[in-house]
Amino acid sequence: MCAPPDLPVNLRGPLLYAPMQSLRTLGNGPLENLDEWDDFVASRYREGKSEDDFRSYSAEANPGVTEFYRQNHTHQTLDFVLERRAEFLKLSRGKKSIWEVAEYLNTLVDDSDPDTDLSQIEHLLQTSEAIRRDGHPRWFVLAGFIHDLGKVLCLYGEPQWSVVGDTFPVGCAHSDQIVFPEFFAANPDSKMPQYQTLYGIYAPRCGLDQVYMSWGHDEYIFHVTKNYLPEPAQYMLRYHSFYAAHKHGAYRHLMNEQDERMFEWVKKFNPYDLYSKSAERPNFKELRPYYEDLVAEFFPAQIDW
Ligand SMILES: [Fe+2]
Ligand SMILES: [Fe+2]
Repeated sequence: MCAPPDLPVNLRGPLLYAPMQSLRTLGNGPLENLDEWDDFVASRYREGKSEDDFRSYSAEANPGVTEFYRQNHTHQTLDFVLERRAEFLKLSRGKKSIWEVAEYLNTLVDDSDPDTDLSQIEHLLQTSEAIRRDGHPRWFVLAGFIHDLGKVLCLYGEPQWSVVGDTFPVGCAHSDQIVFPEFFAANPDSKMPQYQTLYGIYAPRCGLDQVYMSWGHDEYIFHVTKNYLPEPAQYMLRYHSFYAAHKHGAYRHLMNEQDERMFEWVKKFNPYDLYSKSAERPNFKELRPYYEDLVAEFFPAQIDW
C-alpha cells in the first residue's frame, strides 16, 4: 500500500533506497508485519493484567507470533550474535540522516489492513508525543522518536527473528522469565554446558555492557546513535525489548550498579512504547518543525549506519 494520506509529505520525496514494499512482500518470517510482535507484547503486558496472565499464551491464538518466537529462540546463539555484530556494527552501510532512515523505514507498511495499521513513523510519533505531553526532557522525547529506527535491519534483508522479539543475553543460561522459554531447547547453545550456567561466559555483576544480547533492532540503533545521546536515552534504546529484565527483574546477577540506576529510565520509557498506540494518527505536517529542531539539536546532518 501507499503511505497513509496525512503522512510526511516532504518525507516521501524520491525514494532513496528501495521501491515501496511491505513486510508482507518481504516475506522474511512468520509475522504478517513487525507490528504483530509489538502488539503481542502490548497485550502480554496489558495494564492491569495479573502476573499469572502473563504466562498464559495460546499458541493456537497466536500462530504467527508463536512460530516467530520458535525461530528467534532457536537461532539466536552466541555465534550468531557475534557474527551479526561483526557485520553490522562496522556501520558500513553508508551515511544517512535520521530522516532518510525514518523515510526508508516507513516503507515497511503492512498491506493487510491499510485503514487501521499505523506506519512506523506514526508509532514513533505516538510514542514521542506521549512522552512530550508528560513534560519529559527533550532527549527523552527524541529517544521515543528514534527508538525503533533499528528495524531498518529488516530492509537490509534480515529475517524477522533477528530484528524484533524480546531480547536476552546469550552465552549464559536462558531465564525462564523469557517468553516461550521452552523453545530454547532447540537452540544449539542449550547443548553447550559452558553457556548453560547462571553466569556462562560472564563474571558476576560484570555490567550489561559486557554482555552480548540477542541480535535485533535495539542493539543496532544503540550503536548507531550512542555518541549523540545522553546515557539514559542510550539505555532506553538498547534495552527496550529486554522484557525479562525490565518487566520481570531477571538477569540482575549480570547487572552492575550503573545498570540498576539506568534501568529506572528504561522502565519509565517502556509504557510509552507499549501503551501510546491509538487509532488517532499524529499530524506529522504540524509536528515536523518541532522534530526537525529536536533531531538537529542532537545529531549532525548525517551519521553512519
Ligand atoms: Fe522496538
Ligand atoms: Fe516501539
